Amino acid sequence: MRIAVYPGSFDPITNGHLDIIERASKIFDKVVVGVLRNKNKQPKFSVEQRVDFIERVTKHLDNVETDFFEGLLVDFAKEHSANVIIKGLRTVNDFEYEFQMALLNKTLASDCETMFMMTNSKYSYISSSMVNELAGYKGDLSDLVPAEIIGEIQERYK
Ligand code: PNS
Repeated sequence: MRIAVYPGSFDPITNGHLDIIERASKIFDKVVVGVLRNKNKQPKFSVEQRVDFIERVTKHLDNVETDFFEGLLVDFAKEHSANVIIKGLRTVNDFEYEFQMALLNKTLASDCETMFMMTNSKYSYISSSMVNELAGYKGDLSDLVPAEIIGEIQERYK
């Protein structure tokens, strides 16, 4: 069975993330979305809410599950018997950091491969921080995040 993890902060999940998850779910037998609980960062949404958002917007995908983690990504991958890490690339700016991270993860777990997927061009400008910024200005989020979670994002910025 080919199992991949797709890690991130997902604070919150965007249409760009969802597009990667949908495409990856067609390539792998199972995709485990891994939500990072980073004790050193103050997220906009709790880890429970970030997981809940992802579970709701991926419920049409039978082979996708969501879990959170707080340690090393390679350990999370191992726990889920995954030997592939999926990362999305939006622009060339993402590349340097992701390349470094991929090499580090390869050193930590030599049997785990990082695979990059190019974002769909229509989502290349979207990031969770843009979503949060726009939400703070009460802007229209409908092109940026799945419809099911817009209400709760707006609620956070009331
Ligand atoms: O959505 P993000 O914030 O760009 O995701 C970053 C993430 C979660 C993929 C990255 O921070 C990560 O893998 N963190 C877990 C800790 C880890 O394994 N770091 C690499 C070795 S120090």
